[in-house]
Amino acid sequence: MTQVALVRPLSAADSAPLATLYRANRDYLAPFEPLRDAAFLTADGQAARITELLTEHTQGRAYPYVIEVDGRLAGRITVTNVARGPYCNGSLGYWVAADRAGRRVATRAVRAVADDCFTTHQLHRLEAATLVDNLASQAVLRRTGFTLIGRAARYLRIAGQWRDHLLFQRLADDPLPSPVD
Ligand SMILES: CC(C)(COP(=O)(O)OP(=O)(O)OC[C@H]1O[C@@H](n2cnc3c(N)ncnc32)[C@H](O)[C@@H]1OP(=O)(O)O)[C@@H](O)C(=O)NCCC(=O)NCCS
Repeated sequence: MTQVALVRPLSAADSAPLATLYRANRDYLAPFEPLRDAAFLTADGQAARITELLTEHTQGRAYPYVIEVDGRLAGRITVTNVARGPYCNGSLGYWVAADRAGRRVATRAVRAVADDCFTTHQLHRLEAATLVDNLASQAVLRRTGFTLIGRAARYLRIAGQWRDHLLFQRLADDPLPSPVD
């Protein structure tokens, strides 16, 4: 059956369902994320993080969204570290729940968020970093118009270890590959 995937802005009401989704996907996400404390997996922990992100949003420093499939929460996608001035840049991060993966949900979400960032928010550049062996995420980025710009040694502390990452960027005026779905 065709899935309808979409992104919408993160809201305070997402704290409890997000905590449930994080708990259900804890083992699946662990190899790709920083170490999380127990509070992160609770509704209160998510509420605190959402409050931070919404504050950053009002300051123009973050654009946080959730991903929904067929009306149900299915992941997160967030642009953080937004800088203006001569940079006009943001950092893109995302994940899709294990039971929704492999169906182009991330591809559609990244495409929608990039469009929003380059049109509504007038960014000039988005950057994203993947673990060197995260081929699925690299496929998503390549398919949505991102270009590999290099490899950064020990770039992020993931699952308790400083790990090399591949760095990608997309500029507002980059030519886009034609959509395949
Ligand atoms: C990476 C992730 C976001 C991809 O989400 P998704 O909705 O499955 O992505 P899509 O279906 O849009 O695209 C994934 C593509 O990678 C491909 N892929 C998956 N595993 C692959 C592998 N080992 N080697 C090569 N390609 C692979 C898929 O086949 C798919 O391409 P296709 O549609 O042509 O078949 C999701 O797996 C996830 O959340 N992983 C854990 C967290 C994470 O890695 N976040 C990103 C951090 S940079």
